[in-house]
Amino acid sequence: DHPRGVTVYHYVANRSMERVFYNADGEMLIVPQSGRLMLVTELGRIELTPLEIAVIPRGLKFKVDLLDPEANGYVAENHAAPLRLPDLGPIGSNGLANPRDFLTPEAWFEQREGLTRLVQKFQGSFWEAELDHSPFDVVAWHGNNVPYKYDLRHFNTIGSISYDHPDPSIFTILTSPTSVPGLANLDFVIFPPRWLVAENTFRPPWFHRNLMNEYMGLIEGEYDAKADGFSPGGASLHGCMSAHGPDAHTSEQAITASLQPQKLSGTMAFMF
Ligand SMILES: [Fe+2]
Repeated sequence: DHPRGVTVYHYVANRSMERVFYNADGEMLIVPQSGRLMLVTELGRIELTPLEIAVIPRGLKFKVDLLDPEANGYVAENHAAPLRLPDLGPIGSNGLANPRDFLTPEAWFEQREGLTRLVQKFQGSFWEAELDHSPFDVVAWHGNNVPYKYDLRHFNTIGSISYDHPDPSIFTILTSPTSVPGLANLDFVIFPPRWLVAENTFRPPWFHRNLMNEYMGLIEGEYDAKADGFSPGGASLHGCMSAHGPDAHTSEQAITASLQPQKLSGTMAFMF
């Protein structure tokens, strides 16, 4: 059986990495919440700021330098098919995350002899080897199995302009598809700043149960289903078929709210 599923991590760091790492168990989707990172990879360097995300392909050697005194954030390790843009269906040729906004690094190398400790994650265990040189010695490359980053503020958010909610998959940036249509191994979904204009509609995310497990995080601001009790850097987990929805206070407010157009701003929640 092929490995499946995802592993979710929360990182907190106040030192840059000294060792070099690669992950044979999956690609890594990095979602900074605070602190800028420099991802030094075999294929070049990526500077990553909160409200941007990056994907490191399975097996690519990299290390992370901190560009601020501290950093924290989220990582999803995807054990199945590589993340890609979702099929847009009736949306057509443009919308959601557009291909032009995904950035790949230019080649960058260092010529350094001397001890480098290289850590591999393989089948859940860590294995260390010693190199006598830097592995960041690739002077040029071409190909498409590459690290990339994306600025979440470029997302073209699509929602209802009549009534009711589309399925939250309308907020998908990247997906790791499975052989079952509609069932992803991992969907990376964001809830960005946007207008709410739907009429005759309970506007917060509705109460529901669903097949995919939902891990939620908050990068900044308030999440519209939980104004209190869900802080940036926090997380929640809704298991498969477990009922969930907005908290009582949010529900009461939404039931009595006048349904004028409303702008949600200064917020960025996401879901794995
Ligand atoms: Fe949900």
